[in-house]
Amino acid sequence: MAQIFKPYANSIASASLLIAAGAPLVLLVSGSLITRSPANTKATVPIDQPVPFSHKHHVKELGIDCRYCHTTVEEQAHASVPATEVCMSCHSQIWTNSPMIEPVRNSYATGKPIEWTKVNAVPDFVYFDHSIHIKRGISCNTCHGAVQEMAITWKGKPFSMAWCLDCHKNPEKYMIDVKASGSESHGDAPAGDHGDDHGHEGDHANVLSPREQIFELYRKIAAGEKLTDTEWRISKGHTQHLPNDKIHEGYKLMQERGVNVSQLTDCWVCHR
Ligand code: HEC
Ligand code: HEC
Ligand code: HEC
Ligand code: HEC
Ligand code: HEC
Repeated sequence: MAQIFKPYANSIASASLLIAAGAPLVLLVSGSLITRSPANTKATVPIDQPVPFSHKHHVKELGIDCRYCHTTVEEQAHASVPATEVCMSCHSQIWTNSPMIEPVRNSYATGKPIEWTKVNAVPDFVYFDHSIHIKRGISCNTCHGAVQEMAITWKGKPFSMAWCLDCHKNPEKYMIDVKASGSESHGDAPAGDHGDDHGHEGDHANVLSPREQIFELYRKIAAGEKLTDTEWRISKGHTQHLPNDKIHEGYKLMQERGVNVSQLTDCWVCHR
């Protein structure tokens, strides 16, 4: 798969896929040639922006929740980038003279939106929806890298088809259970990311829904709280070298959260 779906020069492979999968995919390939700009495939390079907005500063140091700015990420396909008014809710009072904020003030005064450069994109012929991934508790960082460390935003992952499929085949590698601090009761196994092998009621009942767990992890990071190994790994966007007990935990979480892989690699899921 990884070879077939290399970004370049794969017309022969694509052609045979087309024959196998039928006419709708003709549109896909012509679409892919048009929509794939170099910026869309380049990972880990910070992207120039009209304002040097820092996630590191706003997320990790100030502790602002992603949803304050990316308001639609839980409910809609797109995450949305914040309107100038959201910035001005603070910057009409904080750093009002900073030249770095000048374009923000300008935008506010003129009503012309700031033109942020897009960092992440999939081609138009690919269907992607944030909401289902967030509902299942997939961390933003699994797909976007260590956002809380970015002084200037970069693309954390390649967003190739092979990359999407790697998780759709084995989501257990990416499932994580983040406990609210203080939710663990006394007299049992020490705080860790397993130890509740005997039922999930009672002692270790986790009051947070999978989606809340995503945001709880950032809260812990901003508060400087200790992370479990799994939390640390996911927060950095790492997934390799998973020990067996963590995979076992992942399967369990998949079951609890109703993740069903039986059709997750079918073409129509992402190309419809
Ligand atoms: C104070 C507002 C604010 C908060 C809080 C915030 N962001 Fe952002 N985010 C922005 C702005 C503005 C941009 C567009 C500029 C840029 O790319 O840096 C952006 C861009 C992004 C992008 C890239 C968008 C693209 O063009 O592809 C991702 C991914 C992202 N944010 C993820 C997150 C995550 C994850 C969190 C929480 C951990 C978060 N953001 C918290 C304001 C915010
Ligand atoms: C909840 C309040 C809040 C919101 C909302 C907010 N900021 Fe900030 N921002 C701050 C604070 C506080 C500072 C840092 C002051 C300091 O360095 O002590 C800051 C600093 C900055 C800086 C200075 C550069 C840096 O990182 O030191 C820029 C640029 C900036 N913000 C842009 C934005 C933009 C663009 C938005 C909207 C997408 C935004 N901010 C939304 C509170 C906020
Ligand atoms: C399963 C992978 C995945 C997860 C998890 C994920 N994203 Fe994304 N994100 C993407 C993809 C793919 C795109 C490009 C979408 C497109 O081009 O239509 C994207 C685009 C974005 C953008 C640019 C605006 C947009 O919607 O196109 C922002 C902002 C963003 N994500 C924020 C977040 C935040 C915040 C979270 C966590 C709450 C998050 N993402 C979780 C894969 C993911
Ligand atoms: C880290 C894991 C992960 C990654 C990476 C990932 N997904 Fe998913 N995706 C999931 C899970 C989990 C589900 C939910 C399956 C379920 O609930 O049965 C899902 C569901 C979907 C669905 C079904 C949505 C619906 O409403 O039926 C689509 C479409 C999708 N993903 C597209 C993509 C695309 C496109 C990419 C790559 C850009 C991607 N995903 C990357 C884990 C992932
Ligand atoms: C989990 C989501 C997902 C599934 C399932 C999926 N694709 Fe894709 N596909 C993508 C993404 C994302 C791209 C765009 C990759 C890029 O921009 O590099 C893509 C691109 C393509 C392309 C364009 C050529 C290329 O390599 O970029 C073809 C053809 C294609 N897919 C065919 C298929 C076929 C056939 C299937 C079923 C066997 C399938 N896809 C299943 C996500 C998916």
